[in-house]
Amino acid sequence: EMMREVSGINELEAKLKSLLHLQEIVIVPGNSDESPWVKEELGRATAQSMKQRLIGKNIIAVTGGSTMASVAKKLTPDFSKNETLFVPARGGIGEDVKNQANTICAKMAERTREKHRVLYVPDQVSKEVYQSFLKEPAIKEVLNLITSANIVLHGIGDAITMAERRKTDLEDFKKIQEGKAVGEAFGYYFDEEGKVVHKVATIGLQLEHLCEIPNVIAVAGGSSKAKAIQAYFKSAPHSTVLITDEGAAKQLLKGN
Ligand code: G3H
Repeated sequence: EMMREVSGINELEAKLKSLLHLQEIVIVPGNSDESPWVKEELGRATAQSMKQRLIGKNIIAVTGGSTMASVAKKLTPDFSKNETLFVPARGGIGEDVKNQANTICAKMAERTREKHRVLYVPDQVSKEVYQSFLKEPAIKEVLNLITSANIVLHGIGDAITMAERRKTDLEDFKKIQEGKAVGEAFGYYFDEEGKVVHKVATIGLQLEHLCEIPNVIAVAGGSSKAKAIQAYFKSAPHSTVLITDEGAAKQLLKGN
């Protein structure tokens, strides 16, 4: 704690809380854009924050991304004394296997010796196929688990970075660009004002579900994500716990 005071992290947290109107923010030292170990620290801080929020039986819904993957790496078998089930927050949104929520949930379950469920949905399906998917009992069951999660854990990305990384088709890419999207979370793309300009059509958690989830933890670091973080919190629930790094925090405060 003394180290944090000396380095000014506490002050940074207080300033960022008032800028983003959040109640709880954790800032880890460094900038994950520059040093890979900072992402590991984000993972460590997140694992700790998740642990504090566990109850008897837990359902933890998780999104994809490299930050979520670094959280998985920091989970250990002593994570939970009770039952925990990891579920992907949403179906496929075009990520590579290593960045997919299904993969990350499997890793989290393996590392904590807990359980996980998968949600297999192809990325590009017609409305009809999509509707029939929703009627599948096995899928329905996972969807019910997702909406009854007590913890949601998610990343936030830079809009264009994410659109490029995913297999976004030209039409959607244009929509994201022309809508001046700067941030992305859960497959939703936000402009500077926090307005959704594009949404990847998939099943699972929808943005409007978030306010009903008791614990939402957002994890995003690196100065390149400053705009994305700010945009996202224009519309995200203010009870969300943000875990970020000094790089993002300083950039955010600089621009305001
Ligand atoms: O939705 C946001 C992205 O999943 C963030 O991805 O953690 O690899 O930057 P990342």
